[in-house]
Amino acid sequence: MPKTRKIRVNLRGAPRSYDIVIKDNIIKELGPRLSGLGFRGSVALITNPKVKRLYAGVIIKSLASAGFKTIVITVPDGERYKTLDEAAKIFDALVKNRFERGSPIVALGGGVIGDISGFAASAYLRGVPYIQVPTTLLAQVDSSVGGKTGVNHPRGKNLIGAFYQPAAVYIDPLTLKTLPEREFKAGLSEVIKYGVIKDRAFFGFLERNAAVISKRGPAICAAIEKSCALKAWVVSRDERESGLRAILNFGHTFGHATEAASGYGTFLHGEAISIGMVMAMNLSVSLGLCPAKDAQRVAALISAMGLLLDAPKISHAKLIDAMRLDKKVSGGKMRFVLPRAIGRVIVKDVTVPQIRRFLGSLDRA
Ligand SMILES: NC(=O)c1ccc[n+]([C@@H]2O[C@H](COP(=O)([O-])OP(=O)(O)OC[C@H]3O[C@@H](n4cnc5c(N)ncnc54)[C@H](O)[C@@H]3O)[C@@H](O)[C@H]2O)c1
Repeated sequence: MPKTRKIRVNLRGAPRSYDIVIKDNIIKELGPRLSGLGFRGSVALITNPKVKRLYAGVIIKSLASAGFKTIVITVPDGERYKTLDEAAKIFDALVKNRFERGSPIVALGGGVIGDISGFAASAYLRGVPYIQVPTTLLAQVDSSVGGKTGVNHPRGKNLIGAFYQPAAVYIDPLTLKTLPEREFKAGLSEVIKYGVIKDRAFFGFLERNAAVISKRGPAICAAIEKSCALKAWVVSRDERESGLRAILNFGHTFGHATEAASGYGTFLHGEAISIGMVMAMNLSVSLGLCPAKDAQRVAALISAMGLLLDAPKISHAKLIDAMRLDKKVSGGKMRFVLPRAIGRVIVKDVTVPQIRRFLGSLDRA
């Protein structure tokens, strides 16, 4: 009997709180679970062609067994389809099928599907319930939890969207078995992030189990559970990122700049975040905020997970320009999440000359 792990995301306004349930083969129980949440009638299953081929069949069968009629809506695979145009096609399909207000959308796929489906759910009929069924590691430990939904604009990522919480998150770790290696590894970078920002003991667990986890061994379930619990803890305290939630952006300022300056598509998001986390650790050391041995441990864990990538050779000016465009920059200062030690971070403004000195020191190292 597979073990069931349950985490509650507590939000102000009781009906909006929800469970994250992690269990092998949970996708085969989706029908009864949605009935258990009080849903009846139709379900809109939003996915992409690849994930549909792999997992939609068992889900539709389970939904049918519980009396649901399923409408399947597919979005082409890839970040470039996380757009308003594709969201409009989802709305068209929902309208065409006379999809009603009390009926739920189920988002089956990685972060792209989760984000666009959540956004569609937030806007269709001014809001219908949605359920996240994440199938990438990144989506299971990060994007499916916390209610950030949205689509990209030609001028920037995630510029259009809403905070809109799911009614439940159902995580089936067995779906990771079909995930391409590079995608899996990229998701591990978010797992490591949680240890660095909030939980030194969890970081130690990841160090001890790095070999098993990076081969998708059983310890991955505990890693997913702990990651979700840490994200739920943060989101429960700061749903709309007015303070604490910013710590989830550890590694993202350098990471986003690396992604943008090296050309989108060169690195997967998680890979860029790994590069960004190593840089943020080293910046913290250079500012005298964090012991060098903690930075070495973070780099060593990233390496043990098979994720240590050389930062691309990008000119400092280009990197700083890319950082200036980041949403977290204001008044010439850049806002960084900087570790004081593994498990403890602060949010601090750093000036452009300080960044230049730091980048210069990397060149001399
Ligand atoms: N909402 C949030 O809080 C949040 C947080 C982090 C990232 N994101 C967003 O998440 C997106 C990235 O998500 P992602 O990394 O999951 O990428 P993705 O959704 O593009 O999925 C990566 C690839 O894996 C495939 N795939 C998915 N599940 C699979 C499986 N089980 N087996 C085989 N292949 C599978 C997909 O078809 C795709 O080709 C970005 O758009 C990012 O902005 C959102």
